[in-house]
Amino acid sequence: MKMFLCCWLVLVALTHSTSSTIPGAQLKLTEKGLEYGNGCMQIVNVALPQSSVNLVPNVGVRLNIPGAFISMRGNWWVRYLRVFKARGSLTLNIYALNIQSSLAITKDAEGRPAVNAVNCVASVGSVGIKFYGGASWLYNLFRKFLERPIRSALEARICPLLGKAVSDLNPLLKKMNVIAKVDQFAEIDYSMVSAPVISSSAINFNLKGQFYNTGNRQEPPFPPDAFSLPPERDHMLYFGISAFTSNSAGFVYNRAGGLSINITTDRIREDLVVPLNTTSFEHIFPEVYSRYPNLDVQLLVENVKSPDIIYNTNLALVQTTATMTAYAVHSNESLSPLFILNMDARARLNMSIREMKLFPNLILDKLTLSLNKSYVGDLNSTQVDSFEYILVPQLQLGAIQTVNKKGYPLPALAKVKLYNTQLRVMKDYVLIGTDVIFEDPRLSNDVGE
Ligand SMILES: *[C@@H]1O[C@H](CO)[C@@H](O)[C@H](O)[C@H]1NC(C)=O
Ligand SMILES: *[C@@H]1O[C@H](CO)[C@@H](O)[C@H](O)[C@H]1NC(C)=O
Ligand SMILES: *[C@@H]1O[C@H](CO)[C@@H](O)[C@H](O)[C@H]1NC(C)=O
Ligand SMILES: *[C@@H]1O[C@H](CO)[C@@H](O)[C@H](O)[C@H]1NC(C)=O
Ligand SMILES: *[C@@H]1O[C@H](CO)[C@@H](O)[C@H](O)[C@H]1NC(C)=O
Repeated sequence: MKMFLCCWLVLVALTHSTSSTIPGAQLKLTEKGLEYGNGCMQIVNVALPQSSVNLVPNVGVRLNIPGAFISMRGNWWVRYLRVFKARGSLTLNIYALNIQSSLAITKDAEGRPAVNAVNCVASVGSVGIKFYGGASWLYNLFRKFLERPIRSALEARICPLLGKAVSDLNPLLKKMNVIAKVDQFAEIDYSMVSAPVISSSAINFNLKGQFYNTGNRQEPPFPPDAFSLPPERDHMLYFGISAFTSNSAGFVYNRAGGLSINITTDRIREDLVVPLNTTSFEHIFPEVYSRYPNLDVQLLVENVKSPDIIYNTNLALVQTTATMTAYAVHSNESLSPLFILNMDARARLNMSIREMKLFPNLILDKLTLSLNKSYVGDLNSTQVDSFEYILVPQLQLGAIQTVNKKGYPLPALAKVKLYNTQLRVMKDYVLIGTDVIFEDPRLSNDVGE
């Protein structure tokens, strides 16, 4: 019985939940997903004619196995009065085995799923037994008399066995990693913040969905906002990633200094854009050129505060406030500051999914510049505005490409591949609907073995 549970419950890779019970991310497993989990169920020597798995609102899933057939081989061994010893093999066929049980899905103290078999009923239509070897001719004479007690013994044992098989899953579930590592700076906490919500058409897992600095947890100054997934059920799985999740990423990376970026001539040369040097500034800001002729320029872009990520229907935007310090780079590699500009940047966020990761792609939309400080003479606002033409391509290629290369793990579905994946930006969250196939067929059968 272990085999099917793992299919879906184990999927939710989920660690320590804290105070808030408003989820930052949600995962919805629909009936279609359960059916898939059900369809891949196969165990050796067991024919499950038409087992079915249904959702039981507020409880979990109901497993119904009508009319299964199981054939087992074993050895028999008899010893009588130290004199008579005999051994041989036997086959035991179990016909019309019916099992109905509900599996309650809950959450443990650490935000991982936990399961229990409840309301189990089992019946065995008939059994057939046949002995081979030794004195089997003798036992075969009596086998009709043996079958009834074997049937009763089996019926009495199935539910306790199922109960044990199901509770044996819990230690496995406890080993599930609910923290997804992103890189050296960050990890995402996908633990469950509340027990799953089970309706007749789907199971909803409410996950924390929050980025943290690795090894240095700090709560951001903003809380998650409640959001709810649409009632859609065309796909097997739905992920909802809220603006809170994305903003907690901005908070974490800003805190870790991961959003400060040097844009250097080398980097730009690689991308075949106009070289970044004082000659390029000649017409906009002649003082720079007369003071530091023919030197490379390096730009240091530093976020002033965490970026704001905003999701609205079909539109995702990132707004950020940063400063950009321009330096002249001397041949001995020392830097002379030229000026500091304040930057308000707005970028469109175009997201895609590859290999269970969400890849953001920033497209710089709008850049507003103002003078913060100059080290080489006055700059008027017209001159400042003119820098936009130099800076936009540099920023798009340098700073923004750094962000665009990284993928952020979705709540880990262990060893599955996504297909038919659709991503839509909704008000306050990103909705990803997808179907899955198991990459490792063993997972769908016997994770518990
Ligand atoms: C940028 O470069 C300067 C010197 O070249 C260095 O001191 C600084 O740490 C660098 N900053 C980042 C964010 O790479
Ligand atoms: C500086 O930039 C100009 C174009 O803006 C280019 O023609 C020149 O070769 C560059 N100089 C160096 C030293 O890279
Ligand atoms: C590097 O070169 C610049 C310009 O020639 C000079 O002002 C500065 O003192 C030099 N720095 C060092 C550490 O040699
Ligand atoms: C968004 O990304 C997709 C695929 O990653 C790409 O095909 C599309 O052109 C991008 N849209 C914009 C507006 O850049
Ligand atoms: C210059 O930038 C600093 C750091 O972001 C900021 O605190 C300060 O207000 C800015 N000054 C001006 C004049 O914009």
